[in-house]
Amino acid sequence: MSIRLGDTAPNFSADTTVGTIDFHEWLGDGWGVLFSHPKDFTPVCTTELGAVAKLKPEFDKRNCKVIGLSVDSVEDHNAWAADIEETQGVALNFPLIGDPDRAVAKLYDMIQPNASDTMTVRSVFIIGPDKKVKLSITYPASTGRNFAEILRVIDSLQLTADYSVATPVNWNDGEDVIIVPTLSDDEAKAKFPKGWKTLKPYLRVTPQPNL
Ligand code: BEZ
Repeated sequence: MSIRLGDTAPNFSADTTVGTIDFHEWLGDGWGVLFSHPKDFTPVCTTELGAVAKLKPEFDKRNCKVIGLSVDSVEDHNAWAADIEETQGVALNFPLIGDPDRAVAKLYDMIQPNASDTMTVRSVFIIGPDKKVKLSITYPASTGRNFAEILRVIDSLQLTADYSVATPVNWNDGEDVIIVPTLSDDEAKAKFPKGWKTLKPYLRVTPQPNL
């Protein structure tokens, strides 16, 4: 069964490069990103893990933990970590799940047999403090992900969880946002004291409210 937005992220216990974890306990009450890698000692994954390690302070700022998964053993992950540090110039600073029996990969539908029977696709799940899945994206093995985009989505999710807004195309933190159409103008007056521009009755643009 595939995992849909709004579902509770399935819990699991797994060995990782930082020891055995219970996923929900490890997430605690903050945000989380779980992302899969087709295989250890592969070139694109090596660059992705280095990029995420460099971005770790950005995830920390957003109270968001990151955890990778690859269907090899923790022993292999530890050996691979040395290559990642050597080639990407940064040490792994977040856990990698060892999943040689593919238990977690199967739980999260990361093995997609029409793509590959043995390797995972590149899945990304963003999980909220309520343990619900807020975003899921699936990339092919041949395409490295853009983790700046994942951070951008976390910014949008965190903003829209607190305010009656949605974020427009290519939005980045600090830019104008859209008042949700379900809010009447009268209701909006109380919530958006800076006012808004009405382009259409359903398209009202306002400064980002938490700035
Ligand atoms: C890679 O990470 O480089 C990769 C893994 C599986 C298939 C293609 C590329």
